[in-house]
Amino acid sequence: MQILALIRERFATVLSELIEDPKLRASSLERIVPSREPQLADYQANIAMPLQKPLGKPPLEIAQSIVDRLNLTDICSSVSIAGAGYINLKLSPDWLAKELDQAYIDPRVGVTSVKEPKTVVVDYSSPNVAKPMHVGHIRSTVIGDSIAKVMRFLGHKVITDNHLGDWGTQFGMIIYGYKHFRNEDDYRARPVAELSRLYRRVQSVIAYQAAVASIPRLEQGVENAHRKVQLATEKLNAAPNDKKTQKEVAAANNGLKQASEELASTQEKIAQAQSNPELLQDSERHPTLNEKVLGETAALHRGDKANLALWDEFLPHCQDEIHSVYRRLNIVFDHEFGESYYHDMLPAVIEELFAKSLAVPSDGAVCVFLPGFDAPMIVQKQDGAYLYATTDIATALFREREFGPDVSLYVVDHRQSEHFNKLFAVLEKIGLVHTQFKHVSFGTVLGTDGKPFKTRSGSVVGLESLLDEAVDRAWQVVCDPNRLKVAGLEMDDAEKRVVAETVGLGAIKYADLSHNRTSDYVFDMDKMVRLEGNTSAYVQYSYARAQSILRRAVAQDWTPDRWETAPMRLAENIEMSLGLQLSRFEEMLLQSMQDFTPNLITEYLFDLARLFSSFLDQCQVLKADTEREAFSRLKLTALVGRTLKQGLELLGIGVVDRM
Ligand code: ARG
Repeated sequence: MQILALIRERFATVLSELIEDPKLRASSLERIVPSREPQLADYQANIAMPLQKPLGKPPLEIAQSIVDRLNLTDICSSVSIAGAGYINLKLSPDWLAKELDQAYIDPRVGVTSVKEPKTVVVDYSSPNVAKPMHVGHIRSTVIGDSIAKVMRFLGHKVITDNHLGDWGTQFGMIIYGYKHFRNEDDYRARPVAELSRLYRRVQSVIAYQAAVASIPRLEQGVENAHRKVQLATEKLNAAPNDKKTQKEVAAANNGLKQASEELASTQEKIAQAQSNPELLQDSERHPTLNEKVLGETAALHRGDKANLALWDEFLPHCQDEIHSVYRRLNIVFDHEFGESYYHDMLPAVIEELFAKSLAVPSDGAVCVFLPGFDAPMIVQKQDGAYLYATTDIATALFREREFGPDVSLYVVDHRQSEHFNKLFAVLEKIGLVHTQFKHVSFGTVLGTDGKPFKTRSGSVVGLESLLDEAVDRAWQVVCDPNRLKVAGLEMDDAEKRVVAETVGLGAIKYADLSHNRTSDYVFDMDKMVRLEGNTSAYVQYSYARAQSILRRAVAQDWTPDRWETAPMRLAENIEMSLGLQLSRFEEMLLQSMQDFTPNLITEYLFDLARLFSSFLDQCQVLKADTEREAFSRLKLTALVGRTLKQGLELLGIGVVDRM
């Protein structure tokens, strides 16, 4: 159901008689929007004022001539002109009710399929395996999954691919760790845990050595910054009122502050590491560990038998771990071609880049120079190694052959935007011009202290334990015995578990999706499992409320077969508002996919849930004055429930019938 599109169509017929310039017609149509003042209008067209100049007539006259020609009598109960020439439309409650009757019998609650379906590849989640998954991985997984679901629901052909990092340095790390630090018994008993431990052990030595090695550079940086401050200050002393110099001093001071902070925090990291004897010993026995790890990775890529055998042995364990997270979050991919899948295709990529005169040898490496970028894209290093970017080119070429996408989405952290800008530029030069590539980027997950989310001990939180915590909290909030008693809900533990799991996991997904994806957001467990406010629990609760009313209806013998075929009526204002919100589901979904912003969906669901609550405050359903009224309201209630459920499902969030 796209009422706005329908109204715009009607306007378009009229405007084609009044306006010659097609661009002006199109921009005029864009000015017909859902009204922000529901007491005045349901839709508003602010067309006439901007036409004053091009048509050379007063806006009121233009508005009048549009209204005179408009044919909206079936859809609208009133079409009026307000102020300096706004056209206000009120929908006819009878017409809207009939539309909702149609939506009711449609399993897709009135959402039509797009007329021109596109083939869309969604690359999301894509963690680097062999490191434990952490909260940062949630965003790509949850946002990508929702985009894939919505696009599919709208009728597009969607192919999802989890581009696992299964071939990178992290494998060099666990191979090295396995060779030098493994505990055989632990590895046999719990391979995933032991591999994680090895990863962390190697990683912390590398980080420590890198920190130590960076000190001279950082000290030099502080010295340079001091000198800059000195110079700028001297300059300012000579000309105290010069604005530019004042700014220079401020910038220099700022630079000094930053350089000093970086040095101090690195020194602190080193001091912390030095209080750990095992780490110090590891570092002494394994100097320049980073190079050794790179050596193991290079050997793996060269096809070294021992390393390949270890990789073959480790990979399934690493996959097991992430698959258990996906199972828990109910996330399924069509494909999981990891980076390793493309390894053998990489030499051909370099050849193709040379053949198309895009690649250039540079200092022994191979680069693609791109206008508008400071640095070229390196596709092969001096030592012959390929890079992340090379694999991404191979991946895009493979997807082109296999799927021929119209749209190719990469749901990845905003810190990789430079990489994707370059990648897309190269892909265009290669000739993949009919695919629209897009980096669907997102911000960082922050802790309540405003810094990247970490636990108190400073380590990044494991994803599994975080999910457990959300489920625990949900149990405390929703399955609180007092609350259940007041609500008249008796639940056994099995039911409570399902409710807590659905609400807890929903809370994490919803919190993530409800923030504009491009901004950082604060991960606040207390806030996200609340029953009030813009939370999944509130929307899920509203769904359960609708189900409870429908159950009580059945108990008083109003089974669906009696009311489902009755016509809906939107007599009260709140019924009309609720009906309007229901009618906007499809429009909202289309809009949310224009720039891939699932937060429009959470906003919609929150508004729908709030309107439903006002409706229940203001209108009797089971005790309505007439049976006819009761039946209409039951149907409205059922449609709200189904729309909430469908909306949550598109976010990857489940519902329960009682909570
Ligand atoms: N594995 C990468 C990371 O964790 C993300 C991969 C995203 N997808 C891609 N085709 N580059 O940073």
